[in-house]
Amino acid sequence: MSTVTRPPTGQAGQAKAGIPVKSYPAPKQLATITDLTPKEAQAITEAVNPLIADALALYIKTKNFHWHLSGSHFRDYHLLFDEQAEQLLGSVDVLAERVRRIGGTTIRSVSHVGQLQTIGDDNDEYVAPGEMIRRLMRDNQHIAEKQRAAIEICEKNRDTVTSNNLQEILDETERRKWFLFEVLQGIENAE
Ligand SMILES: [Fe+2]
Repeated sequence: MSTVTRPPTGQAGQAKAGIPVKSYPAPKQLATITDLTPKEAQAITEAVNPLIADALALYIKTKNFHWHLSGSHFRDYHLLFDEQAEQLLGSVDVLAERVRRIGGTTIRSVSHVGQLQTIGDDNDEYVAPGEMIRRLMRDNQHIAEKQRAAIEICEKNRDTVTSNNLQEILDETERRKWFLFEVLQGIENAE
């Protein structure tokens, strides 16, 4: 059973940040009945929740680039980033509801996302368009590795349903990588 420092919640939480709480098992009202063992459900929950945090973090980063883009490829990149952001957001609810279906608890707040995300935020004042593509490529590559690893954990713990969902989500990640890679070829050949 792992312990995490979860962001403060509710009124008590507002007074004091960083209260250590158990991330699993869920409170009994939220402990959905499942035929998976608590150990199996915990392993899956702990593999999937960081993927949700990363999808939200990368959603914001991709939208940030969509909003703060400048240059000759404006229209192409602006539309590409929007399409990719929507894909990322679409994966969030699917994964969060899988966690709840097996009795785990999932993301509760933006600060909870900050605690679980494994990709960095991007607060740079200005990022050149080619560099945006490079950064998104790197993050999507990282996310693809984490998703593939999570699929293995789901398979090992008898959760083929979450594994199937993750396979589709990984396919979308690889599509994003493919598009970014090809755009990058154009940028690097032009440099
Ligand atoms: Fe937009």
